[in-house]
Amino acid sequence: MPEKALLVVSFGTSHLDTLEKTIVPIEEDLAAALPDRVLRRAFTSGMILRKLEARDGLHIDDVPRALEGLAGAGVRDAVVQPTHIMHGAEYDKLLAQAEPFRGRFERLAVGRPLLSAEEDYRQAAEALLEALPERAEDRALVFMGHGTEHFANPAYCQLEYLLHDLGRTDVLVGTVEGYPGFGEVLRRLSERPGVRRVVLAPLMIVAGDHAKNDLAGPEPDSWKSQLEALGYETDCRLTGLGEYPGLRGIFVRHALEAAGDGPK
Ligand code: CO
Repeated sequence: MPEKALLVVSFGTSHLDTLEKTIVPIEEDLAAALPDRVLRRAFTSGMILRKLEARDGLHIDDVPRALEGLAGAGVRDAVVQPTHIMHGAEYDKLLAQAEPFRGRFERLAVGRPLLSAEEDYRQAAEALLEALPERAEDRALVFMGHGTEHFANPAYCQLEYLLHDLGRTDVLVGTVEGYPGFGEVLRRLSERPGVRRVVLAPLMIVAGDHAKNDLAGPEPDSWKSQLEALGYETDCRLTGLGEYPGLRGIFVRHALEAAGDGPK
């Protein structure tokens, strides 16, 4: 085992198709940018870890196990890079789980989540717009973020604000569990009587349960079904954020900063 390691920490997903398209490419880009480090994976969601183990016999470490393994193998310098979107509850949990391992490494650094500095929001907004359809008078783009009770929740509002400042006032951000919710999205759409078409996309690293069911599912309470019941034409783009190269670049920059390597 080399002396330097990079532990990539994700919330995780039990949908293996989106895992391959989102978390794996993030890990690959990070591995390519920090080639002197051995790469390991950890997930923070205990529920997902248990499900993968029971259903697929797939074992993935949680953060304490992964750090224990690295320390035990003689790693002295560990960078932990989360794929979390914001400094919310999952990031707090990661920091708390890493803390007891400080004495086990000569150096243990945790990289910042996706949306931290203004520069991150700007780069994220540009990466999203590069991949999304141009502005059209009769169309709106609606992102579904997760949302949280954590005080980091306004990150969604800041991203939307920045998109509007870039001239894309046709983009709205709503969340499943926080503010703004889908009710606010519907109200703001109704304030734009010219809009008849809505592009729906997840604002989550993976396009898992929330994207497949809450956003685009056939049940009457999905965002897609509710919009269609109101007469909107919908177009679901089930692309997890990990699929956007420009967003993966933000994680790479944050990992390089944590490694002390600086941007290339
Ligand atoms: Co959820």
